[in-house]
Amino acid sequence: MKVLEERIRQEGLILSETVLKVDSFLNHQVDTELALQIGQEFKAIFGDQPITKVLTVEASGIQFAMAAGIALGVPFIYAKKKKAVTLSEAVYSAPVHSFTRQEDYLISISQKYLGPGDNVLIVDDFLATGAALVGLCDIVEESGAQLMGVGCVIEKSFQEGRSLLEQRGIPVHALARIASMSPGEVHFIDNPGT
Ligand code: G4P
Ligand code: NA
Ligand code: NA
Repeated sequence: MKVLEERIRQEGLILSETVLKVDSFLNHQVDTELALQIGQEFKAIFGDQPITKVLTVEASGIQFAMAAGIALGVPFIYAKKKKAVTLSEAVYSAPVHSFTRQEDYLISISQKYLGPGDNVLIVDDFLATGAALVGLCDIVEESGAQLMGVGCVIEKSFQEGRSLLEQRGIPVHALARIASMSPGEVHFIDNPGT
């Protein structure tokens, strides 16, 4: 997605060879027009499939799952990272290992909102180590729903997330694929699409 690559080049802050900060338009302040365009792009990629729900994990996947849900005309669900007092009903949950914080946490969604008969598109902001995405895939599997694919806004192709998902036979699409980066320089992998 050319407009996205352009914004990353212009506004992305490369904090190290592995961490990209996109707080001015994706991750903290959100460019709403761009977010809606991102939703349309996910529709262009996955819209030929009979998707019934979009699934993400809080917090920074929410705006893109909402945009994809708007484009596809379906609801989105975000998995919660803490067991909320209001989430007292039966839940599907999966453990996630955070490599940045070196700790495990649980993600959960209510069993009311996902089940056999659903066709799910998982959406997230970053495809990095893939830990949270694998947890979401486990939740879809547990629910008996069909996983149609994973769409991410930015993929750091030098990390292992994509291969973890592809090993499970899951179609993975990212709108900007970063092969490598260093302060002042980002190299993208050529991506078909707009
Ligand atoms: P993950 O692959 O499952 O996301 O786990 P990891 O431990 O690798 O990443 C921890 C958090 O950092 C994740 O957000 C992930 O989206 C985010 N992240 C990974 N690489 C980058 C990066 O280069 N830049 C930015 N800005 N974020 C990155 P999270 O803990 O799920 O929290 P939230 O931000 O969604 O609330
Ligand atoms: Na995220
Ligand atoms: Na994040």
